[in-house]
Amino acid sequence: MTDMTTVIAAVMKKGGAGKTSTIVPLAYLAAQAGARVALIDMDTTPSAQQWVQAAGLTSDRFVCDRVTADELEGLLTEIRASDTIDFVFIDTPPGDKHAIVQAMSESDLVLMPVHIGSGDLPQLVETYHLMKLPLRANPNLKHLIIVNHAGTMPAVTRDTIEAIQDGLPEAQVAQTAIPYSRQYALAKGTKPNVKWWHYDNLWREIQAVLA
Ligand SMILES: Nc1ncnc2c1ncn2[C@@H]1O[C@H](COP(=O)(O)OP(=O)(O)OP(=O)(O)O)[C@@H](O)[C@H]1O
Ligand SMILES: [Mg+2]
Repeated sequence: MTDMTTVIAAVMKKGGAGKTSTIVPLAYLAAQAGARVALIDMDTTPSAQQWVQAAGLTSDRFVCDRVTADELEGLLTEIRASDTIDFVFIDTPPGDKHAIVQAMSESDLVLMPVHIGSGDLPQLVETYHLMKLPLRANPNLKHLIIVNHAGTMPAVTRDTIEAIQDGLPEAQVAQTAIPYSRQYALAKGTKPNVKWWHYDNLWREIQAVLA
């Protein structure tokens, strides 16, 4: 096994937080910037894979596959051994603790999008604590909480970030919040581009966290 491949998973127990909306643009923008990327969909409703297919995103630098939680480790062992992929991005299903913990256990960085103002906090706290065992196995496991659907009301964004920091004092919250926008609401099935600059910014921030 080499450490050439970096694995990034989007997880959140709560449905509709923005896992798929975050991980697909990040994966695609990373490939557009020159990285060799594999996007892995662990959701039984494979909306990331459907997005990739609908928008025709695959290329020699961008592959997409779908696995169950129990197949993930084997696929990643193959990918790591092949030395042909720089970044693996994993989309996970909501509510499936086994899949979430499997994804966390294989990751270098866990992204946790939260739908701002939607009462996601208890689910975020629960998801955050699922990192306990994966962290014991990999003390270098990093995480970033991503405030999604932000921006329309700055006071709500600020209150959410404060509530996260009160509830989870050790948690890292990304500086880049993703605003609610019509463009992002209609993103699925379309080709991400650098004008989606929140995801572009987030990708830069992620690379700094991983450096
Ligand atoms: N920043 C945003 N602005 C506008 N709409 C958004 C934004 N983020 C996500 N959405 C919309 O919110 C809904 C849920 O997002 P998404 O499917 O990415 O969440 P998810 O966490 O992957 O959901 P699931 O748990 O069902 O897999 C989708 O309709 C998506 O288009
Ligand atoms: Mg999803």
